[in-house]
Amino acid sequence: MCGIVGYIGNLDSKEILLKGLEKLEYRGYDSAGIAVMNDNGVQVFKEKGRIADLRNIVDEDVVANTGIGHTRWATHGVPSTVNAHPHQSNSGRFTLVHNGVIENYDILKREYLQGVALKSDTDTEIIVQLIELFVNEGSYTEEAFRKTLTLLKGSYAIALLDAENNETIFVAKNKSPLLVGLGETFNVVASDAMAMLQVTDQYVELMDKEIVIVTKDAVKIQTLNGEEISRDPYTAELDASDIEKGTYPHYMLKEIDEQPLVMRKIIQKYQDDNGELTIDQEIVEAMNDADRIYIIAAGTSYHAGLVGKQFIEKIAKIPVEVHISSEFGYNIPLLSEKPLFIFISQSGETADSRAVLVNVKEMGHKALTITNVPGSTLSREADYTLLLHAGPEIAVASTKAYTAQIAVLSILAEVTAKSRGLELNFNLVQELGIVANAMEVLCDAKEDFEDIARKFLSTTRNAFFIGRGIDYYVGLEGALKLKEISYIQAEGFAGGELKHGTIALIENGTPIIALATQESVNLSIRGNVKEVVARGANPCIISMKGLETEEDSFIIPEVNELLTPLISVIPLQLISYFAALHRECDVDKPRNLAKSVTVE
Ligand code: F6R
Repeated sequence: MCGIVGYIGNLDSKEILLKGLEKLEYRGYDSAGIAVMNDNGVQVFKEKGRIADLRNIVDEDVVANTGIGHTRWATHGVPSTVNAHPHQSNSGRFTLVHNGVIENYDILKREYLQGVALKSDTDTEIIVQLIELFVNEGSYTEEAFRKTLTLLKGSYAIALLDAENNETIFVAKNKSPLLVGLGETFNVVASDAMAMLQVTDQYVELMDKEIVIVTKDAVKIQTLNGEEISRDPYTAELDASDIEKGTYPHYMLKEIDEQPLVMRKIIQKYQDDNGELTIDQEIVEAMNDADRIYIIAAGTSYHAGLVGKQFIEKIAKIPVEVHISSEFGYNIPLLSEKPLFIFISQSGETADSRAVLVNVKEMGHKALTITNVPGSTLSREADYTLLLHAGPEIAVASTKAYTAQIAVLSILAEVTAKSRGLELNFNLVQELGIVANAMEVLCDAKEDFEDIARKFLSTTRNAFFIGRGIDYYVGLEGALKLKEISYIQAEGFAGGELKHGTIALIENGTPIIALATQESVNLSIRGNVKEVVARGANPCIISMKGLETEEDSFIIPEVNELLTPLISVIPLQLISYFAALHRECDVDKPRNLAKSVTVE
């Protein structure tokens, strides 16, 4: 979703800003812009489309040591050059970039800006025009900025330039992520450390309702009421090579291939010196204190939560409910007496999930976040965190984070079960090792999945994924993967559910991708396949060794039945990848999607 960068120092800022924006491309955007400031004032360059389009219009001859930049994912107003950031006040004195959504922008417009001609349809422009209004009424810039911030309702991360002070970037944040990066003779601003890793790995986290005055030699953090805050920087533990594609044509393929490695890393990170799986004792106690667990997540993370429910209920014997975060606020179920909330979020920034977390904390409940991003908002605001250790996931379509989430949930269930004295009939470390090896076998079978994608999905308008039990949940994830990157309309169903309506959509040749990895339902799912074949469907059955029949399109290696989602999803990820390639889609940056969904 939207991204922010800023630089103030001794170097020309243009290239640093543009490179920073390129690092944020993966988050999803539809327009981009930069504003650079020198003694001659501020110059803005913005363009609909890709950073490459923006590069074409940036004037190479302008040299400026201070600048801000933005990638925009449209919320208020269509994607266009006019609506792209940075936005300027009418006199051109103030220039600003903003992430987030200003909920009361219409009210502010009516109350304060009746006589002001607005150029764009964005909520953002209101902010910059308000600052100018207050300055015109006699406030100095910082004062006008503070005054404006106190009026805003909603989420924001803001970087502001004042053409009359080219030695400062004014920064503020509420609910949207923003960091200040520290250098020897410069400082930077970024919504994601990845953007500015090119110049520094030292960052200071900003908290909600803080305002920061950034110059090239100093970073002054204050609350909105003017209280000074001192906060130590942290080192962003990102390896610049983690965020490069290397020899891969797409990040998605690289990240699919990284899954065996991630499995092994997770085993290692969660093992103690005796080789036993371990997690923070406080988390185990919180699990044991809970009479019911509520898993809250969105999209792929929600699908991982559905699998996690099986682990926690079957292994640790604690009842679990799984909820979509964007729905939870309106449909809060009757909570148990001692609930524990588990938030699953790759990015740790998903606004829908964060809104639930804020609510849950207000109600006084404990929360655990399972995330890939240390220091992310959901991690900071929860009581406990479990990390995925999957390395940065750049492709918009989540792959390695999904399997990492499932692996970490299995460890959480196992460690909790042991602490409750429950006997397990398998050794999870060994089983996850077997999973990692099986993942490798599947990643090596790319040609088979390319063939399947060509045979079943190259011309179809729609596709259905079916499965029973845990296979059904993996089918939901397979359908999401396929639709988001190939734009084929794909839906996942419980095997027995098609005949209750959806079977009406089956025509000659409709692809049905069926998962058959569970012995207890093998016959039933094959029965469901027969029902659709009788109506003309083209079945692609992915089964597990030991359960296969001659009609199957691919047989995955055998792993512990509970852990099958970790490997049965890989064929679905690869089939989706190749289907998208065959259809010439932008695999890593599918249309309309953002990697980190920071608006509700
Ligand atoms: C799909 C995908 C999304 C995310 C969802 C939640 O491939 O990536 O469905 O899973 O937006 O994001 P996180 O996990 O960052 O909270």
